[in-house]
Amino acid sequence: MRAFITRWLVLGASSLLATLAACAAPDAAPPPDPEVASQTSADTADPADAADAAFRGDACSDIAPAPHFRDWPRIHSAIRSDARDEAWIRSVVAAMTLEQKVGQMTQGEIASLWDPTTASYQLADLTRIGLGSVLNGGGSWPESNKHAAVGDWMALADAIWDASPTVTLPGRHPTQVKIPTFWGIDAVHGNNNVFGATLFPHNIGIGATRDTCLAREMGAATSRAVRTTGQDWAFGPVLAVVRDDRWGRSYESWSEDPAVVRALAGAMTTGEMALDRDGTSFHGIITTAKHFIADGGSTDGIDQGNVLASEAELMNIHAQGYFTALAAGAQTVMVGYFSLNDQGKDAGNQHLITDILKDKIGFDGMVVSDYNAIGQITGCTNDHCPQAINAGIDLFMVPFDWRTFVPNTVADVRAGLIPMSRIDDAVTRILRVKLRAGLFEEPRPSARPGASNPDNLVDHALARRAVRESLVLLKNNDSVLPLRSDRKILVVGKSADSIQNQTGGWSLSWQGGPWTFGPNDVNLNSDFPNGESILAGIRDKVGADRVTFSVDAAGIDVRQFDAVIAVIGETPYSETFGDVATALGNRGSDDASLRTLELGHRMPEDRAVLQAVSGHGVPVITVLVSGRALFANAEINLSNAFVAAWLPGTEGGGVADVLFRNRNGSIGNDFQGRLPVSWPRAACQTPLNAGDPGYDPQFALGYGLTYRSRVRVGTLDATPGPAAGCP
Ligand code: BGC
Ligand code: BGC
Repeated sequence: MRAFITRWLVLGASSLLATLAACAAPDAAPPPDPEVASQTSADTADPADAADAAFRGDACSDIAPAPHFRDWPRIHSAIRSDARDEAWIRSVVAAMTLEQKVGQMTQGEIASLWDPTTASYQLADLTRIGLGSVLNGGGSWPESNKHAAVGDWMALADAIWDASPTVTLPGRHPTQVKIPTFWGIDAVHGNNNVFGATLFPHNIGIGATRDTCLAREMGAATSRAVRTTGQDWAFGPVLAVVRDDRWGRSYESWSEDPAVVRALAGAMTTGEMALDRDGTSFHGIITTAKHFIADGGSTDGIDQGNVLASEAELMNIHAQGYFTALAAGAQTVMVGYFSLNDQGKDAGNQHLITDILKDKIGFDGMVVSDYNAIGQITGCTNDHCPQAINAGIDLFMVPFDWRTFVPNTVADVRAGLIPMSRIDDAVTRILRVKLRAGLFEEPRPSARPGASNPDNLVDHALARRAVRESLVLLKNNDSVLPLRSDRKILVVGKSADSIQNQTGGWSLSWQGGPWTFGPNDVNLNSDFPNGESILAGIRDKVGADRVTFSVDAAGIDVRQFDAVIAVIGETPYSETFGDVATALGNRGSDDASLRTLELGHRMPEDRAVLQAVSGHGVPVITVLVSGRALFANAEINLSNAFVAAWLPGTEGGGVADVLFRNRNGSIGNDFQGRLPVSWPRAACQTPLNAGDPGYDPQFALGYGLTYRSRVRVGTLDATPGPAAGCP
């Protein structure tokens, strides 16, 4: 409604009204109640009630058990359909040529617009083709500059806006409508591609917090950070329910527990979108529910693999986060690279996309295909895939092939391979999302509220709180923790002074680390000017003069110290490169013995450093930095206390906040985190999920000690896995 009124008043130019609406919006609305998401996902709520309820207060929900569905529920989105908006969209679609429509359905990479010969962006093709959207993939930055400043991002955002196509609406007074080309970015733990941004813990750590308020606030902070660099749309949150921790994207999942994913999905979406009071639009950013569907359920945890699941399992396990995200108003769903029950790649699966998502669930936003995902459909290539359009994909992420995708698709429509009604439906959905996001009335990105302010990239306090809440204490024998802050501390381990290891994949670069596709993939501490390593946080807490750091403890007399803190764990990876069960996931190594969850086998340097520091009568506190639960019994045995810190992001200081007492001896922060995934008792114990028949983990889903617990963890069975790797 807001969208409707202001658009007819201004059409093209920015008016006082639009400016007022836009300026007033961000702070005027009280934070919506994430509970709404769970309430509205049942098949009962009235959509109008839902929108109102979104503004009722700022209480945060507990994690309620996930409801059981016997059939796909119809979800009532907190964003109401507006009849006048729909009529306007129809008039625009009617005025578009086929070429313009297909252009609108297409998304290209910013790097594909860069002209190396002139060292400048050439946007004429964008205008000519009428590209509906652009993206930057992981590790793609303006001018390929990893250290691009806020102004560089914004300059490109403005240039893209300026080059966006226009459509002429006929009539007595023909009017020109600019259809802004919108920009999507993988903001999955903060605005993580951007130099200087705060990176929050990855989802698995947020799952450990089970804090829906935190998720909502992180959503709002991410929205601010994305708007400041000029993008409209985040490719997140990831709603995967990870069921096999060998999956390379395990850390992008909040939990193996659908109830946790369900609760956090609604909260995060609510925070990122920031609905307007009238319930027809929003002023945050467009969010994406991804990757539809059951990406966390792939056999052997193989990325882009096959999922064996019944529809009952889909709706009761894997789709739970979609129900709340869509109820909270999510406007985009990304279809991933998986196949369901060997039926071919999901992006070509009409039953999933059209019958279930659009018809049964009632999703009226747009469906986007993942990066070149259409090329994986049998009979398709990256620039040609009528099957995917007919299956119900609306917007095509064809990063480097859009210049041919568009004419190929136009020819398909002309040849009768794709019905015009399908094209019109896709374009309608895309324009609807742009309209609800306010893009037709917002000015150039740099003139929008919150634009270009580097302060918006940073939220130390919120991220540090997230780190504190996400830590899970697995062992604390003899209450060696919390440590007094006047102790002499030896810090060891390769991850103690590595913001790269702390931030993991999807951090500045795609892989986020040393598994390189080029020098730009490696992140140094200096690449995070607003970040702090775990070591730096410890030094801050107790004073640098009390802290000695040695990566491997070589030549160190451990008995000179009051305590050892060992920070160990995984090095960064993303997507297929993080899989445990394949050679690709093991850095191209054919060494099958690496196909194990055994920490000490995958990371022998970590076991070695613990062996070096333990057994000297000095307590050893191990902090494990990892994107997944690992079989770590040998390392737990070598430690007096053991903390799972997941991938905490740029605020390493949050770790010391919890490990140490205040100067006056009081406890400042107790442990709050609880396991978001089941912790294995053997190298090959996967899949391992609460509720499995014979469920027998080392530490169960939800386990987590506090400083009040008096649990003694005895010597654990550390029998190594099979020398040949797991079957
Ligand atoms: C990933 C998506 C991501 C996209 C764009 C794909 O490879 O699967 O999660 O949003 O790339 O970077
Ligand atoms: C991009 C990622 C993308 C991946 C897909 C990479 O080059 O940077 O964003 O997910 O390709 O293969």
